[in-house]
Amino acid sequence: MGAERTSHISLSGIREMFALTTQNAINLGLGQPDFDTPVHIKEAAKEAIDAGFTGYTPNKGYPELIDAIAHYYEQYGIYAKQEQIICTSGGSEALHLAFEALVNSGDEVIIPDPGFVAYSPLTRVAGGIPVSARIEADDGFRMQPSTVAECITDKTKVLVINSPANPTGAVQRYDELRGFVELANDYDFYIISDEVYDKIIYDGEHVSIGSIDSDRVIVVNSVSKTYAMTGWRVGYAIAPNAIVEEMLKVHQYIQACAPSISQKAAYAALNGPQETVSSMVKEFRIRRDAVMQHLKGLAECVTPEGAFYVFPRFFTPETSLDLTKKLAKAGVIVVAGSAFGHFGQGHVRISYAANQQSIDRAFQIIKEQLLMR
Ligand SMILES: Cc1ncc(COP(=O)(O)O)c(C=O)c1O
Repeated sequence: MGAERTSHISLSGIREMFALTTQNAINLGLGQPDFDTPVHIKEAAKEAIDAGFTGYTPNKGYPELIDAIAHYYEQYGIYAKQEQIICTSGGSEALHLAFEALVNSGDEVIIPDPGFVAYSPLTRVAGGIPVSARIEADDGFRMQPSTVAECITDKTKVLVINSPANPTGAVQRYDELRGFVELANDYDFYIISDEVYDKIIYDGEHVSIGSIDSDRVIVVNSVSKTYAMTGWRVGYAIAPNAIVEEMLKVHQYIQACAPSISQKAAYAALNGPQETVSSMVKEFRIRRDAVMQHLKGLAECVTPEGAFYVFPRFFTPETSLDLTKKLAKAGVIVVAGSAFGHFGQGHVRISYAANQQSIDRAFQIIKEQLLMR
């Protein structure tokens, strides 16, 4: 029954954890800000509805939004033309379109391991073969050009990078990004750069690899995390025109356009005041520091420089899956590192997109459970 393409894919391990959720459980498994969408963004959506902005927009997104996206990326040294941008239903769709546009059957796609859950299944849906590039705690969980070099074969078509990273919070350095570009040029492959956490950075700064090389790079981003808009479903890709045209073909038939009302909201987000972003990041930083404090003596953990996750290895012989199941029963939801790839084994992803009180209580429970062994 059904097609092999989908039968080989399993549901995300993150969902599995949610299935174990009990009432009153503290959820530190979520991949979304616990903040509400800022008021001026919601107002823009209401105005769009009242003004009857409720039909299809141009497939690639309405022109003012495309301009706003282009303008947003100027801060990272990317000066994209309208035809190099496509607005999608979330970064998720932009990733999907990029894989569809680039990957032929049997092509290899190098993905970070541990890495975001979508990269491997999307590679497979496109007919490609995911190749894990191991990310090491000793390197601060930053993907290394030398590791990528070891993964390259004559079938390599795409390298996926993600900075700041889910699930580790690592932020790539300029020299590392340069290294990836040099490899892409030497071995003739593309780079998909997932930048959805670009604004959620505590140490260092975001560098878009698209500013180093624009011919081989597909930048993917969205308003989901930065503006607490995960449910609005607006993302985008910036890529060479020829690739955008290929992405458009798939987008046009599976999606037509991103939701019109959400596009207006995204415009207000990108074009409006940015204070809500900085206050959210300020709050995340306080929580990150609190979580690192809680982890002392319980786990080894690289201090994350971005996103809103920590990826500790607890001092326990249990597998990360057993530990997360035990914690779920005790009322704390976190995600087993193995959900993010083979090399995530032994680690746990904890999201601190939850209020301070919940975080403190969750760590009380985690401590008790670790001691109960
Ligand atoms: C690394 C990464 N990329 C992409 C996405 C997709 O986000 P969205 O489709 O909401 O833009 C997520 C969401 O968790 C993510 O963590």
